[in-house]
Amino acid sequence: MPCTVIAGAFWGDEGKGKIISYLALKDRLDFCVRTGSVNAAHTIWHQGKRYALHMVPGGFVYDKCRLLIGAGSNVHVAQFLKEVEETSVKNRIGIDSQASIIEEKHSAQDKSSAHLKGLGTTGWGVGPAIEERVRRTAKVAKDIPELKPYVTDVEGQINDAMTVGKKVLLEGTQGLLLSLFHGTYPYVTGRDTSASAICSEAGVGPTSVDDVIVVFKSFITRVGTGPLPGELSKEEAIKRGWFETASGTGRDRRSAPFNFELAKKAARINGATQAALTKLDCVYPQCRGARAFDALPKDAKDLIKETENQTGIPVTLIGTGPEALDLIDRRKQT
Ligand code: IMP
Ligand code: MG
Repeated sequence: MPCTVIAGAFWGDEGKGKIISYLALKDRLDFCVRTGSVNAAHTIWHQGKRYALHMVPGGFVYDKCRLLIGAGSNVHVAQFLKEVEETSVKNRIGIDSQASIIEEKHSAQDKSSAHLKGLGTTGWGVGPAIEERVRRTAKVAKDIPELKPYVTDVEGQINDAMTVGKKVLLEGTQGLLLSLFHGTYPYVTGRDTSASAICSEAGVGPTSVDDVIVVFKSFITRVGTGPLPGELSKEEAIKRGWFETASGTGRDRRSAPFNFELAKKAARINGATQAALTKLDCVYPQCRGARAFDALPKDAKDLIKETENQTGIPVTLIGTGPEALDLIDRRKQT
C-alpha cells in the first residue's frame, strides 16, 4: 500500500478474490479497481454467503471501500447491474467512461467461432469484444444510458487519491499463464494478464506501484484446453481433494501439483515483491483455519520455504480456509 497490484500466477482461479477481500478488510482499502472482464469469476465468502463476482471488485466486503472498473475493462451491462444489486454497492461503484461494452453479439460470436470453441473459451464473448475495441467500433460506458449513474474518470480518481496517501488496490483477473503474450498461446485469454497490463488497464503508471502480490495456489488448476504440466487424472484429483469446478462456467477444472518453474516465471514477469499462497489446507488438511505460521505442519512450512527460495520473494499471505480471515498474515515479520 498505498498502491498494490494483485496478479494471478497460473491459469486463474488461484483465489485472488479471497486475498483481495482480506486486504480490503484488514488494510481498510480506500479503492479497489477491477480490470479484465466478465469471463473471470472471483469467489468471495462474506458473512457466511458465497459470491462469484464477474464485475464487482472484491473489495466490496469492506463497506467504506470505493469500487471502480478501469478504462481497459469490458463491461457486461446486465451482469454488472445484477451484481450491483446483489452486493448493494450502488452508491460506491463507478465505471470509467471509456471502458468497453461487451454485447450479446460478442458472446454469440465467441460460441460459434470454430477456433475460439477449440480454445475452450468461457463463451462470454471477451475475445470478440476486444477485437471490436481494436477496430475502434466498440461502444464504451458513456454511450450506455443505464450506466450513466456510474460513469466516472477512474484514473483521475485513483491517481489523485494516491497523491494524498489513500490506499488503492488494483485487482487483476485470470493468471499469467492465460496472458495473450506470456501465457500458453494460443490457449490463452484475449488480453495480457500481467501486473503491467493491470496497471495499464486501470491507468496507473509503473512508478506509482508499491507492491505486486502474485497469487499462487498450493496446487494448480486450469479450465479449457491447453497444456498443464504434471496433469492428474480426475480420479487422482478427487482422491487428493483437489477436484474443483469453475465458479463461473461450472466446468471441471483440470489439476496438477504445484510447479516451481511456473511460479518463478510468474514472480519474474509480474515483478512481484510478495506472494500469497492459497488453499494450503487443501494440500495439508491439518492447516485448516490456522492463523499462525508456527501452527503449520513441517511439510507445509517446507513448501512455503521452497517457494520463497526459488522465487526470491517472501510468501506473506497464506490461505488456510475459505473465509477472508482464514489466513496467516506474515507481512509485518518480513
Ligand atoms: P476466454 O477468456 O473466455 O476467451 O477463454 C480463453 C481461455 O481462458 C479458456 O481456456 C478459458 O477457460 C480461460 N479463462 C478465461 N477466464 C478465466 C478465469 O477467470 N479463470 C480460469 N480460466 C479462465
Ligand atoms: Mg475464477
